[in-house]
Amino acid sequence: MTRPTSPNPTCRLTEANIDAFVALNNGAAPDILPLDADRFRQLLGFGGISAGIRSHDRLVAAALWFDETTRDYDSPNYRWFLDRFDRFTYVDRIIVAPELRGRGLGHRIYHYVFAEAAAAGSPVVACEVYERPPNPASRAFHEQLGFTIIGRQTLDGGNREAAMMVRPLVIPVA
Ligand SMILES: CC(C)(COP(=O)(O)OP(=O)(O)OC[C@H]1O[C@@H](n2cnc3c(N)ncnc32)[C@H](O)[C@@H]1OP(=O)(O)O)[C@@H](O)C(=O)NCCC(=O)NCCS
Repeated sequence: MTRPTSPNPTCRLTEANIDAFVALNNGAAPDILPLDADRFRQLLGFGGISAGIRSHDRLVAAALWFDETTRDYDSPNYRWFLDRFDRFTYVDRIIVAPELRGRGLGHRIYHYVFAEAAAAGSPVVACEVYERPPNPASRAFHEQLGFTIIGRQTLDGGNREAAMMVRPLVIPVA
């Protein structure tokens, strides 16, 4: 695989990036559930952390994640991990612009999340990958990053089935 040569770093997103995040997110349907700017602000208010990569003044990749202290978030996938782990980092969504996929941007964002999560003392990163409807690219991507399936859950009245995946982290010694 060709890894990116772009010098653009992964950075935390701010209010100024909300519309760009929503556009990137909603362009990835049906692999990612759609949201609007108000919902995204609400997720940030719940404690969500977001980071992205910009190229030529455009947001081309982004992720949104939570730790276990996010008590108000009603996502059944988040709550599945909350029921099973005392401490974890839950990646709610990760999106790369369609025309730039396969160039390592997804890996780059995930390694940013891994570093932040480990620095915060989180022992594991968690996510779900849908099997119904199937998302084989995301499944291969997460397996390549070291995620393994630890369970499954059915959602949306049986219309969706998610594989629940985790990837342990090495926590740096203080
Ligand atoms: C999943 C996603 C974030 C991956 O980002 P990316 O920048 O394309 O991934 P990277 O370039 O860092 O990694 C590429 C690796 O991912 C996997 N992968 C990515 N696209 C793939 C595809 N279409 N088919 C099979 N494997 C794929 C492979 O393991 C690949 O490694 P390889 O090139 O050595 O085979 C991106 O495809 C995306 O935005 N998809 C839509 C949103 C989504 O599904 N997000 C995840 C929801 S759980």
